[in-house]
Amino acid sequence: MKTAVIYYSSHHGNTLKIAEKFSESFEGNLFEYKDVDGYNTVEYDLIGFGSGIYHGKPANEFLEFLDELPDVKNVKAFVFTTSGRGSEKYNIPLKEKLEEKGFEVVGEFSCKAFDTWGPLKIIGGKNKGKPDENDFRRVKEFANELKERLNF
Ligand SMILES: Cc1cc2nc3c(=O)[nH]c(=O)nc-3n(C[C@H](O)[C@H](O)[C@H](O)COP(=O)(O)O)c2cc1C
Repeated sequence: MKTAVIYYSSHHGNTLKIAEKFSESFEGNLFEYKDVDGYNTVEYDLIGFGSGIYHGKPANEFLEFLDELPDVKNVKAFVFTTSGRGSEKYNIPLKEKLEEKGFEVVGEFSCKAFDTWGPLKIIGGKNKGKPDENDFRRVKEFANELKERLNF
């Protein structure tokens, strides 16, 4: 299965760390969203799409990138976000946009990550050291479960 991971990460590189672990686990290509020509996405069997969360949602630039993707058939996707709260609900806009384009969304992942946004800076931020080894283990488990389910 040809796999790619495409990410947006601007605050502390948290989402990039998770994206790197996903690309290692799937032995796939890793791309920052800016470097992707959306029309190449049709070449893949599975693509992971991930972003940090800014003001309650994935980055506007990343959502715009998804809006500009071509319609696809037979391409599976999984989504992931990193945020201060770590809520899985933050994945919803990613899932919705990808499904509009015809992707089959087969999984989602979220985790808490280092956050120094706004007043948090004064107290040195929260979730220091995250994502950590435990999150990377969860990434690996997620990837292994997905590979098994999709007969990789
Ligand atoms: C401008 C800004 C707004 C943020 N808003 C939220 C938010 O609404 N909810 C939340 O849980 N985390 C929020 N965060 C924390 C980030 O989602 C978190 O640090 C994330 O891991 C950043 O990913 P990155 O390092 O890959 O950019 C915000 C961070 C910044 C810089």
